[in-house]
Amino acid sequence: MGFPNLNGETKLCGLFGFPVEHSLSPAMHNAAFQSSELNWAYLPFAVHPDHLAKAVQGIHPLNLAGVNITVPHKQRIIPLLDEIEPTAAKIGAVNTIVNCGGKLVGYNTDGAGFIRSLAEEADFRPQGKTVLMIGAGGAARAVAFTLALSGCKAIYFTNRTTETARELAKEIALNCGTNTEVLPWGLKMPKETVTGVDLVVQTTSLGMWPNWQAAPEFPFAAVHSGQLICDLIYTPRQTSFLQQAAVQGATVLNGMGMLLYQGVLAFELWTGQSAPIEIMKEALARQLVTEGKS
Ligand code: ATR
Repeated sequence: MGFPNLNGETKLCGLFGFPVEHSLSPAMHNAAFQSSELNWAYLPFAVHPDHLAKAVQGIHPLNLAGVNITVPHKQRIIPLLDEIEPTAAKIGAVNTIVNCGGKLVGYNTDGAGFIRSLAEEADFRPQGKTVLMIGAGGAARAVAFTLALSGCKAIYFTNRTTETARELAKEIALNCGTNTEVLPWGLKMPKETVTGVDLVVQTTSLGMWPNWQAAPEFPFAAVHSGQLICDLIYTPRQTSFLQQAAVQGATVLNGMGMLLYQGVLAFELWTGQSAPIEIMKEALARQLVTEGKS
């Protein structure tokens, strides 16, 4: 993608991560800036973990309007910022920084992006609902905290490493007052619990391109229509996990919406304008085709 309008007045945003080569965010945000006729640009910065503090110190002197933060910096960035928005503080991870005249404010739009994708793409509202989370890593943490803070009635957790699920479940119960429970991993999971939940969120990396045949073991026979089954993976578009859930008649949703809406929310925080959602969605789809992952 070209930048025909880059000039001395161009405002810059970017992404700090390591690696950043395969990020879809530059394509998504630059398409959004162009379509909104904003003289802004978004650049990837491969920031080695050893250089994170120096890179953060450079945000204001270089007049960056804001940056996204990705793996492996989302937690380590927190003590380097001036202010953390309360939800991001509870999650303990930041994926978006806004440079407010030199004050660096950290947000987490991952969880909120997921909730927004549920509303926009599946007409699902978390209030009063029961959820099963598969996995207990960084992505699960952002999603589960935001679901809990959005009023879920109960959240079940299951993870290959049970202790990690136990810690996350405990933290969410303590901080959000939500009922939580840890279930055995895989086929040992009680089928009646699976049948009773409104939403299942698959957050592990199992099934991600190029290992698209993989899926967590799961009692799929307990899944039924009326349930919403999500996978945070978006390459492939429909994981083996989602295929097996769809066969049971459940509504299925991949991780494209979360990726899109975390970007939409970051765009809105930086620019103060509504994001051109369809343009951003098309840019993501185009970039996936370009990378041969669609
Ligand atoms: P992310 O930020 O994408 O969530 P992460 O924090 O590394 O990444 O978390 C990865 C999640 O996928 C964890 O829940 C991990 O389970 P463990 O806590 O047992 O490591 C899960 N995961 C990764 N590979 C897995 C595999 N082969 N089988 C089962 N779970 C796996």
